Amino acid sequence: MDKCTLVTGGTGYIGSHTTVALLEAGYQVIIVDNLVNSSDKVLSRIEKITGLAPIFVRADLRDTSTITKVFKEYPITSVVHFAGLKAVKESVEEPTKYYDNNLGSALSLVKAMETSGVSTLVFSSSATVYSPFEDSPVDEGATLGPTNPYGMTKYFIERMLTDVALGDKDWSIGLLRYFNPIGAHSTGLIGEMPRGTPNNLVPYVMQVAIEKLEKLYIFGDDYETPDGTCIRDYVHVVDLARGHLAALRFLEKTKGSHIWNLGTGKGTSVLELIQTVEEVIGKSIPKEVVGRRSGDVPIVYADAEKASEELSWRAENTILKMCADHWNWQKQNPDGYQ
Ligand code: NAD
Ligand code: UFG
Repeated sequence: MDKCTLVTGGTGYIGSHTTVALLEAGYQVIIVDNLVNSSDKVLSRIEKITGLAPIFVRADLRDTSTITKVFKEYPITSVVHFAGLKAVKESVEEPTKYYDNNLGSALSLVKAMETSGVSTLVFSSSATVYSPFEDSPVDEGATLGPTNPYGMTKYFIERMLTDVALGDKDWSIGLLRYFNPIGAHSTGLIGEMPRGTPNNLVPYVMQVAIEKLEKLYIFGDDYETPDGTCIRDYVHVVDLARGHLAALRFLEKTKGSHIWNLGTGKGTSVLELIQTVEEVIGKSIPKEVVGRRSGDVPIVYADAEKASEELSWRAENTILKMCADHWNWQKQNPDGYQ
């Protein structure tokens, strides 16, 4: 192993899948996470899948002196930064918590990297940075305009990192704008662990499928879409993980800051998604159409050509495989890692 990567938020949903991809590609991985939204039980699962153990440091990213020590202790050459809070609704209710945690973590990390002379960074951004008025497919040049504090934190961190790369030409920074990550590792050993009642469609449907929740509420069927429900670009978390590896390999050879959408380029409606889950589980999902959810945009899907051209990355998994893998994880782990 000649490359050593710090994965912040590596015990979380996307971080754990990316850690597997990095270990399998021969990287040594150091995870820093404060476990605010994850479990350290994921570490033994990662080892079970890969036969390799990541090093784990339990710490808060905002603690710059501890993070600087991590850089001193291990031969880290690059960073993949996942750590952050991600619940849109909570961010509206508690904006300072989000600005403090997400901006504070990113700033602290960049300061520790500057002190340590490490200048290759991949950052988890989101399609939520785009203006809701942009037509899909959305490409990386589209107008930005996040509509909630969570999205704003992504926007501000993107700006900060772009300035860092402009100010010091040694930096190589990748801003990855994910669309809607779903699915789980095909072993069913790692997956998403929502705390409390899920806000997002697929985790919610899955909990209805295992009868933890009574029924699914469909937020509106009167949109201007073919079946009246909203359309999103769902992307398999294992494809996303490969996307991080591809970005890291690109950044190891190329300086400056770069932006890539990570999505499939295909839209799936809420009803189509539910039908696919029903096909996978072999039974009907109890559901009811209710009013629209405030802030929802009818259609959002990616133009994913830039990542294809520059990173040779394309999402490979179908929506059926995404739902099958998510279900496999949910069935095997009805209470997450508990
Ligand atoms: P997650 O909550 O499963 O993982 C985030 C991890 O960061 C958790 O393990 C949490 O404990 C850790 N963390 C949070 N604040 C921390 C801090 N101050 N110090 C140390 N660790 C901290 O979320 P995820 O779905 O894996 O998302 C990873 C990243 O991708 C996040 O930045 C998220 O905003 C972004 N993203 C996620 C989605 C999505 O739908 N899942 C979409 C777009 C972007
Ligand atoms: N939906 C329902 N019922 C539910 C949950 C969701 O009908 O119980 C619908 C929503 O109205 C929306 C679609 O399912 O039309 C997808 O909703 P999600 O909450 O799963 O996903 P969003 O696209 O709204 O938001 C997600 C993440 C954000 C991220 C954004 C990026 O939650 O953090 O994708 O586009 F910023």
